[in-house]
Amino acid sequence: MNRLKDRVALVTGAAQGIGAGVSRVLAEHGATVILTDISEAVKATAKEITDRGGKAESYKMDITDTGEVNRVVEEVLGSHGKVDILVNNAGIYPRRKLVEMPEEFLMKMFDINVFGIFRCTKAVLPSMMERRYGKIINMSSVTGPMVGSPAGGQTAYASSKSAVHGFTVGLALEVAQYGINVNSIMPGYVHSPSAFGTRGAAEGRDAEEAMREFGLRIPMLRQGTPEDVGNAVLFLASDESSYLTGIYIVVDGGNILQEEFLGPYEPK
Ligand SMILES: NC(=O)c1ccc[n+]([C@@H]2O[C@H](COP(=O)([O-])OP(=O)(O)OC[C@H]3O[C@@H](n4cnc5c(N)ncnc54)[C@H](O)[C@@H]3O)[C@@H](O)[C@H]2O)c1
Repeated sequence: MNRLKDRVALVTGAAQGIGAGVSRVLAEHGATVILTDISEAVKATAKEITDRGGKAESYKMDITDTGEVNRVVEEVLGSHGKVDILVNNAGIYPRRKLVEMPEEFLMKMFDINVFGIFRCTKAVLPSMMERRYGKIINMSSVTGPMVGSPAGGQTAYASSKSAVHGFTVGLALEVAQYGINVNSIMPGYVHSPSAFGTRGAAEGRDAEEAMREFGLRIPMLRQGTPEDVGNAVLFLASDESSYLTGIYIVVDGGNILQEEFLGPYEPK
């Protein structure tokens, strides 16, 4: 359980959902985790980790604010001397059809999902280059680089997540000789408060039951958990993946393998 002993990991968008799950997994494996988020709720998420014996700290950090990102990273470098692992997780996924899309909608999507990753990485990278060590893990999505969404209204989100893939391969090549690995994760349907917490409520049904039923459309019979994504991040954050760079890992229970919907599935 000590695969990340003495490592310092900074996670963005860590207050809830996938970022919180990633933080829990990294802390369980011995890392000191710096949880950051635009939401003050990040404090409570970090406290849950320390209450269970993990090492965690929290900072309010809006990844659209370059000054704030630089300040937080400087403070972390000051107190810990390094950031070994950067998990660029924060992202938003509102839907809007292109013909109904105001330009501000598109700009906000890119400011958070794409430029936020540029800002955080640029703040951390010089110290990684100096130490000839670093693991950068970017949260893309299957939506965009691999598939369209059946729900539609995803041109902005899909483009932003394709850009995250482009950023990953471009940077991987740029920093390979510095001992820095840059990889991405492409999650499918993952249970998080934003993604599915309100699904049942919106339909006037129990959220857990609605989630379980939706999961039967996925070949592995369930939606992913934030920890499923966290375990893939753990692999990319550990030295077991030291010869991998510029790759993506799809974490989706086999969902995109279906060319057409074949479910609902049943356990065999
Ligand atoms: N949940 C899924 O099914 C799924 C699938 C594929 C990809 N993803 C990606 O995974 C990431 C996390 O998704 P999630 O479902 O956990 O979402 P979520 O909304 O549950 O959590 C996202 C977190 O990011 C924070 N955040 C938003 N704007 C921010 C900003 N400007 N600065 C700092 N933090 C900010 C939010 O406060 C929130 O805590 C996103 O990049 C998303 O696109 C999610």
